[in-house]
Amino acid sequence: MTPADHTSPAPADPQVLVIFGATGDLARRNLFPGLFRLHKAGMLPDDFHVIGSGRHSPGTDAEFRDRLGASVREFAADVFDQRAWDSFAPHITFVVSSADDGDDLAAAVRRARDAAGERCRTLLYLSVPPATAEAMVRMLGATGIADDASLIMEKPFGRDLASACSLDAAIAGIVPEKRVFRIDHFLGKEAVQNLLALRFANGVFEPVWNRDHVAYVQIDVPEDLGLEGRAGFLESTGTFRDMVTTHLCQILGFVALEPPARIAADELRDEKLKVYRALRPFDPAETVFGQYEGYRAEDGVADDSDVETFVAVRAWVDNWRWQGVPFLLRTGKNMARSARVVTIGFHNPPHALFGDAPRPECPDELTLELDDEPVVTLHVRAKRPGPELTLGRGTFTFRADETFGGAEPLEAYEKLLLDAMRGDQTLFTGAAEIERLWEVCDPVLRHRPDPLPYARGSWGPDAALRLPGGRGWAVQDA
Ligand code: BG6
Repeated sequence: MTPADHTSPAPADPQVLVIFGATGDLARRNLFPGLFRLHKAGMLPDDFHVIGSGRHSPGTDAEFRDRLGASVREFAADVFDQRAWDSFAPHITFVVSSADDGDDLAAAVRRARDAAGERCRTLLYLSVPPATAEAMVRMLGATGIADDASLIMEKPFGRDLASACSLDAAIAGIVPEKRVFRIDHFLGKEAVQNLLALRFANGVFEPVWNRDHVAYVQIDVPEDLGLEGRAGFLESTGTFRDMVTTHLCQILGFVALEPPARIAADELRDEKLKVYRALRPFDPAETVFGQYEGYRAEDGVADDSDVETFVAVRAWVDNWRWQGVPFLLRTGKNMARSARVVTIGFHNPPHALFGDAPRPECPDELTLELDDEPVVTLHVRAKRPGPELTLGRGTFTFRADETFGGAEPLEAYEKLLLDAMRGDQTLFTGAAEIERLWEVCDPVLRHRPDPLPYARGSWGPDAALRLPGGRGWAVQDA
């Protein structure tokens, strides 16, 4: 695949985008608001058609658009304006479909393609529960909807290695891997590409990015939000599959990979796959599951549910660069606060020239906040002003929004939708990576730790607080 033309953001060719799960939460909160933002910013081609699809009709096209209008007004409030909406909405229609019946949809897709002409690209966005994904893929093949189309798949990809392999085989039967876009929206955050820029565009970080200098890595995504109406999803998926096998492991891949030959899809995937091959299968004894108190009383949750709403894992990458460096992963719902932070902790200097050994409250760390507007902070020990030579914590901070004021970051889904339309797979995950990650996660799936209770608004079960050893978790101790 030729790398996308990054000088001209809008895809050149007409696009027909079919969104399965178009009345669902992701479509309402992220996909349609993301498409609207792209339209408003002039990053969609003039000729685009979005066909929403799902098992139940939301009413007429006009009613569907009205409903979407309310969501876009809410979730793209910062850029919403009525004129832009009025020019966007007529591009959207809705057609009912299901895994057993795609005929009406196939006809609608054919009509849209014919109207758009020969150069039209078709993208099929599957935002459906993992249990129905494979049947939907088969329907797309059987009806011909998948012919010449690209497929965007929402995570989680399967429930374990066997189901992921079976899903991948079904996908390979209808669309070549070059046209499959497995979305992990964390990779669409500006901060992930900024991590690559930081490491590989500077001389200062890469030489210390290894076991000789790095003592630990933490990938910490606590969330203060709770179920947000997603009880059904969490009950069937759990936080380990929802967040760890996907977002946290993908970030680990980007932190730990070797310098790729080029910043391009194949090269990055190859390097991430090497990391995952070296990633030691997770040990249930080094994994803590938690469930917040009161979870079982939530609407839509079983009275005896043992689904985990919190996970912490101590992981190890057994290769030349990372041997012996713990990678601490943590995420959970209803925690003390929300953050998405990668912390790289450095070894203490070999000799304590300044008296006491450096104190734990004053670590030497690089932190990367994984946001659409990245913040990178280098925490160092520095001399406190005054007559004595004593140390305190000093910080150097880079804030993308301040440094590049006026530059508009794309929200993660917006970026990934745009890349998929441009045929750029750089920030999407490959089948081999996903399959290897299920192998890594398999011991924990087979020997699930019992979820330990934790108070809402806390940092999770005590056992998880002890996982990093004496130094604790950077986010909560900062
Ligand atoms: C989603 C998970 O993929 O990511 C949610 O399903 C989680 O459970 C969300 O809350 C977090 O994403 P973000 O971008 O809001 O940090």
